[in-house]
Amino acid sequence: MSFRTTPSAFDYVEDVSPGSGALPPRAWYASSDAKTLSLDGTWRFRLSATADAEDESFAEEGYDPAGWAEVTVPGHWVLQGEGAFGLPIYTNHLYPFPVDPPHVPTENPTGDHLRVFDLPEDWPALSEGGAVIRFDGVESCARVWLNGTDLGDFKGSRLAHEFAVGHLLKPKGNVLAVRVHQWSAGSYLEDQDQWWLPGIFREVTLLHRPAGSALDFFVHASYDHLTGEGTLRVDSDVDGRVLVPALDIDVATGESVTALVAPWSAESPRLYDGELVTEGERIPLRIGFRTVALEDGLIKVNGKAILFKGVNRHEWHPEKGRTLDLATMREDVLLMKRHNINAVRTSHYPPHPAFLDLCDEYGLWVVDECDLETHGFTEQEWRDNPVDDDRWTPALLDRAARMVERDKNHPSIVFWSLGNEAGTGRGLTAMAEWIHGRDASRLVHYEGDWNCRDTDVYSRMYADHAEVEQIGKELDGGTLGRRKLPFIQCEYGHAMGNGPGGIADYQELFEKYERLQGGFIWEWIDHGVTHPELGYAYGGDFGEELHDGNFVCDGLIFPDRTPSPGLVEYKKVIEPVSFEGSDGTVRVTNKYDFADLSALAFEWSYQVDGETVEAGTLSVPALAPGESADLKLPEPPAHVDGSETRWTVRALLAADTAWAPKDHVVAWGQFPAVAGVRPSLVPSASPVREERLITLGPATFDGRTGALRTVGGVAVENPRLDVWRATTDNDDGTEWKSGLRYSTLWRTLGLHRMRHRLVGVELESQALVVRTRVAPAAREVGLATEYRWTSDGSRLKLTVSVTPEGQWTVPLPRLGVRLGLSAVDSSVDSSVDEVTWFGGGPGEAYPDTRAASEVGRWSATVEELQTPYLRPQENGARADVRWLELGGLRIEGDPEFSFAARRWTTEQLDAATHLTDLVAGETLWVNLDHRHHGIGTASCGPGVLPQYHLLAEPAEFSFVFSEVSG
Ligand code: GAL
Repeated sequence: MSFRTTPSAFDYVEDVSPGSGALPPRAWYASSDAKTLSLDGTWRFRLSATADAEDESFAEEGYDPAGWAEVTVPGHWVLQGEGAFGLPIYTNHLYPFPVDPPHVPTENPTGDHLRVFDLPEDWPALSEGGAVIRFDGVESCARVWLNGTDLGDFKGSRLAHEFAVGHLLKPKGNVLAVRVHQWSAGSYLEDQDQWWLPGIFREVTLLHRPAGSALDFFVHASYDHLTGEGTLRVDSDVDGRVLVPALDIDVATGESVTALVAPWSAESPRLYDGELVTEGERIPLRIGFRTVALEDGLIKVNGKAILFKGVNRHEWHPEKGRTLDLATMREDVLLMKRHNINAVRTSHYPPHPAFLDLCDEYGLWVVDECDLETHGFTEQEWRDNPVDDDRWTPALLDRAARMVERDKNHPSIVFWSLGNEAGTGRGLTAMAEWIHGRDASRLVHYEGDWNCRDTDVYSRMYADHAEVEQIGKELDGGTLGRRKLPFIQCEYGHAMGNGPGGIADYQELFEKYERLQGGFIWEWIDHGVTHPELGYAYGGDFGEELHDGNFVCDGLIFPDRTPSPGLVEYKKVIEPVSFEGSDGTVRVTNKYDFADLSALAFEWSYQVDGETVEAGTLSVPALAPGESADLKLPEPPAHVDGSETRWTVRALLAADTAWAPKDHVVAWGQFPAVAGVRPSLVPSASPVREERLITLGPATFDGRTGALRTVGGVAVENPRLDVWRATTDNDDGTEWKSGLRYSTLWRTLGLHRMRHRLVGVELESQALVVRTRVAPAAREVGLATEYRWTSDGSRLKLTVSVTPEGQWTVPLPRLGVRLGLSAVDSSVDSSVDEVTWFGGGPGEAYPDTRAASEVGRWSATVEELQTPYLRPQENGARADVRWLELGGLRIEGDPEFSFAARRWTTEQLDAATHLTDLVAGETLWVNLDHRHHGIGTASCGPGVLPQYHLLAEPAEFSFVFSEVSG
């Protein structure tokens, strides 16, 4: 590493030190009586191409910013100004500048920000106490002046920095000048997989600090599960008293006090309102009593091992980037709670502090992660990695301290995480030592060191099921230190596009082995950027030189925060109550860690052919965690022979909670009672050859090719064998273990361009048989396919038999038929857009993403059947379908099938890069699938588990078509 030799006024930009002039870090809190002044709003703004393009004169009082633009603070300048202020850049781990630490490019977009403010009328006299200016987040490096005085500079984008300014304030016309550089030495420490977005993106606030105000304080509130007592001690830099009225506590700071309390947990987040009163101010406290410990090799809270059902959350808003308002943060928390999520890893930086308040209040376990990632050094085998270079250690320690000091009073935080993907090194050890010394009441997490030198947990990302099972069985070996530790997957279930697949299989392992304490899905939200032409933009859409495409869109919710099917699946997989049915009884099991079932009400219902015919309440005892009860179900109602019947049982909130209303469904289960009969058709009609047609019962076929043309009055584009699906992000990913990428294998083989050679059309006495061979150019492999058509005069049955020929070495993407319902103008006949089915729903389901698919009667419009993955791909298939009605046709399957219906072809879906590329055509394309290949998570991690592979094997499946009457 070489350092610039000529000193310059801009050296701080490339200085590895954390900065100069800022106050020591401290707890982030809102005082009830000290005044604050928000400096958010419109600021004057000047963008320069380099760090040193302009001198400091703009910071002087009296400077006239004529000709400057404006930006909104908080905000990222590249998301304002419609491109005039530069554009976002997305890279996963590549630094978008030469790796030449600590140097950054000469082209270093630099935003000068100016704001003039008066003190409000009621601001205390300037002689009374002091004041600080707090910056909650600035990317990536800032220098600050107030009224012409240089206050200092700082780095650490998602951390708070304060400057003492009391001595500089004036009643009127204060000039706050902030120079922000996009790139700095700090950028080397902030290589998280996300958009690079410079700017003052969190609030700027002036805080009055009355004489005798609290400086910093640390609330220690533990819980003894054996005695039920909580112990409280508030250490404060300034002496004062601690009041907790509900517990009759009125004690001096620094003194311990014990009382019988209800403990805090993510399931029952009991907070006690209190106050810290110093001579100069009163500070509201929200105290949660809990004890986090590593005990018997397990992460225990209040004496119990916990299971993380977590997500990784980046801060994201499609228009505002990482500037989130309180309502958006609350929406995230409510959505998590409503989907049974109990934990958040704040990947990969401390979130806005208000988010942590919400976690305390609603109940989520938090892994608070430091703003540190140096992933780009992996490109050079981690040479020069800042975390293993003592010159950077002060910066790392500063970041650790700014996280811990800011956030230490949140009961929700159970782990401090050193950062993400930063390799290994002495700097990390120094951080861990400092954190352990400062806060012994929480555990330390870091994933990047599999030897766990500095951590209290063995954490991995994307370990496959087999390895997780080995770890669960404690057969994974490793260092002695690691063998004693519990295991979590800090990232798994990569939620990019359609998926993640296989999470139910992970959950089974987590629940089976004690050492496995759960995991965190990657990730919460797609980071799509609202774009005028593309709908949502992703990497590359802003003309970046280097980018990682839509790898930034891998969330359980879409950018507008609509849940994607992955979230619905996750909710089901991690539900805290399970139901297993057999022989008129249902076994209910409480899978909470702390709560009994008294907050839930239970219902049963009985479905005949998917329609509920009777329902009632089920009385379930207030089972303790881990307990089960076998409950008798009522006598099933009478029903017509041959119909299919099943029980559905649900657990609902018995009363309104802070996060969802009464009757919100928390968990459910279904189990069959009586199996239905499969559709049967006794052939009686004979095929008749006419001039250009063949007729059979209600259908007509092309006389030459045997292709179906009509069923009754419905025109049909011939159903023919189809194996292609618009590859998903997971199909396009490379499986970690095998190194295989299925979409490449499939495309190389030509499965996306299969040809259909007509072998023969035969009219048997009661069947029309069409034989084809379906195969790609240049290959010997093929699928001998027979379509056997029969009819009973009013209905039409198609039996498809497929026999693979040649050496098939890859699974098929899907196996089914595609048909088109053509020339139906939905503007004339809107009924074509309505689809009704009996089978799995309401959402999409694939072989390894079908836990949340509930068997019933469902209906949706064609548009509603589409899942709007930001990069279009296979989506929307409904599984386990018995029958389906659409476009005037009724289609029954034997066996059950899966279907998708779209106003574009698979090829169009495959070619689209953004949703705006998909234009509805006149034909409604319907896929009737015998099977699909699984989904897996190879977009980052393991592929499809063997049991969900669709092997090229002989198969037979049939459909019965009839015209929908009326
Ligand atoms: C992990 C990383 C995340 C994200 C994810 C893939 O390796 O920690 O930040 O990049 O992979 O989406």
